[in-house]
Amino acid sequence: MTRAQQRALAQLWQEYGIADEPAVLDFATVFERGGPVEMEIGFGDGEMLCDLAQRYPDTNYLGIDVYRPGIGSLLLKLKRQRITNVRAICADAALVVAQRIPVSSLAAVYLLFPDPWPKKRHHKRRLLQQVFLDQLRERLRLGGRLHIATDWQAYAEQILMHAAQVPGLTRIVADGSEALRAEKRPRTRFERRGQRLGHPVWELLFQRTA
Ligand SMILES: C[S@@+](CC[C@H](N)C(=O)[O-])C[C@H]1O[C@@H](n2cnc3c(N)ncnc32)[C@H](O)[C@@H]1O
Repeated sequence: MTRAQQRALAQLWQEYGIADEPAVLDFATVFERGGPVEMEIGFGDGEMLCDLAQRYPDTNYLGIDVYRPGIGSLLLKLKRQRITNVRAICADAALVVAQRIPVSSLAAVYLLFPDPWPKKRHHKRRLLQQVFLDQLRERLRLGGRLHIATDWQAYAEQILMHAAQVPGLTRIVADGSEALRAEKRPRTRFERRGQRLGHPVWELLFQRTA
């Protein structure tokens, strides 16, 4: 962790952080206003979260990650760019979603380049399993979107297989994943690195339909 990240965690967490406790969140209290809430799981250094928050100032953004240096980077960006519509939780997203996110509350969920855990014996650690996909569906509002991207083909196939078992979570098929990506989200840092290495990206977009 850099000194700047350490300082940010010490000085800015009060302003942008949400305490790690098991109570269900009241978004109006958390963001000190109403409005739609979108959530990013595994925001890395927070680049995309800041980009979205600036482009859509009327939307509230909730970021969840476990990596403290990345959270420090997010806090620095929020302060420097004077962003007020983002809050962060430092905890395992599986627990946060199960315990803290109200049902039918989210306009969108982003999960971009989740850790692929390539070794077979580690597949059980992958976040996007059927039960979790169903919990995400339940936390979305009707019509809300779940946006997933990965550069790991086998993970993409597993996600599609599990999502097909979740009633009420419908895949939105668009012509050309590139157009879909550009319309909905900026490229992430991890994605740019993959691009330099020539990795293709699987863009998976779902909607809560029931
Ligand atoms: C491969 S990185 C991708 C970061 C960013 N989305 C990007 O595309 O540049 C995966 C991120 O997910 C976070 N992460 C992994 N497991 C998590 C969990 N169970 N709960 C919350 N965050 C998690 C990691 O700390 C890391 O920041």
